[in-house]
Amino acid sequence: MNKIGVYTSGGDAPGMNACLRAVVRTAIFNGLEVKGIKRGYEGMISNDIIDLDRQSVANIIQRGGTFLKTARSQTFMTKEGRKIAYDNIKKHGIDALVCVGGNGSYTGAKIFFEEYGVPCIGLPGTIDNDLFGTDFTIGYDTAINTALDAIDKIRDTAHSHERVFIVEVMGRNSGFIALDVAIAGGAEGALIPEDQGDWDKVLNHFNNPKRRKKSFSIIVVAEGDEQGGALILEKKLTSMYPDLKIRSTILGHVQRGGSPSARDRILASRLGSEAITALLTGQKSVTVGIVSDEVVYTPFEQAIKGKKSVSESLINLAEILSI
Ligand code: F6P
Repeated sequence: MNKIGVYTSGGDAPGMNACLRAVVRTAIFNGLEVKGIKRGYEGMISNDIIDLDRQSVANIIQRGGTFLKTARSQTFMTKEGRKIAYDNIKKHGIDALVCVGGNGSYTGAKIFFEEYGVPCIGLPGTIDNDLFGTDFTIGYDTAINTALDAIDKIRDTAHSHERVFIVEVMGRNSGFIALDVAIAGGAEGALIPEDQGDWDKVLNHFNNPKRRKKSFSIIVVAEGDEQGGALILEKKLTSMYPDLKIRSTILGHVQRGGSPSARDRILASRLGSEAITALLTGQKSVTVGIVSDEVVYTPFEQAIKGKKSVSESLINLAEILSI
């Protein structure tokens, strides 16, 4: 192996730049050449592939987003698209790949290895923290801190106007962001897809005369919750409790941006470097994660199918602390 290609794919996440920096510098440290593939699989297909050296990744560790840019590619999901991508990879003399992204990006890498035998190491990059094979994903820590900062601000208005605020956070089909942010933000409720009983807990909160004495509340809802998003819940709760002043806020893409936290930079640097170690030691089609502070390799198949569970004890804690 002489030359590797690296790309970011799927939704951007704070820390992706720190990760790219670690991949590039560790590769060069070990005598490898590095190519950067722009816009993930899209760049593989459109041949948007550039040379990277140690200077190309200077002054990016503190920046959000990804300097290689990112995309969700439909064309790569077709056989024809992957054939063009393979031809381009070969043209550039790329022997192996490092992919930073989520489940969709992992799926692309797995199929590509099966079809063309191009080794690929997957690194978990998503704010959602929903990837199997790692305790935390790159971007998650920054995203929860961004959401928390917003909730602290909303709390000021909730308190001053004696209102109920429903705050919708991202997370796709998972409730990691919502649950952590609810606990850290002192919310009265967390609605997450993983907890089927959470709606009743929220209603108990509103129906209990003692709790009703509280002049304001914050309810955090995960965008993928089965009850619906913040706007739907605002309508539903307003019709059920017309005497309450209920407002909703959707935090949206603000959670994806910003300078990565120290935790995310360290995680990203560690994982980026470990991806090169994995390739140098003969790994061909795995993700690299960190579980209980140990580096763990998980075959793509398992990482894609595996379901990471939210902690039951955190669900209980959120309930206990919301009395
Ligand atoms: O996977 C990251 C994420 O931000 C999810 O939380 C969210 O559901 C989705 O991406 C939004 O995607 P897009 O930026 O394409 O609208």
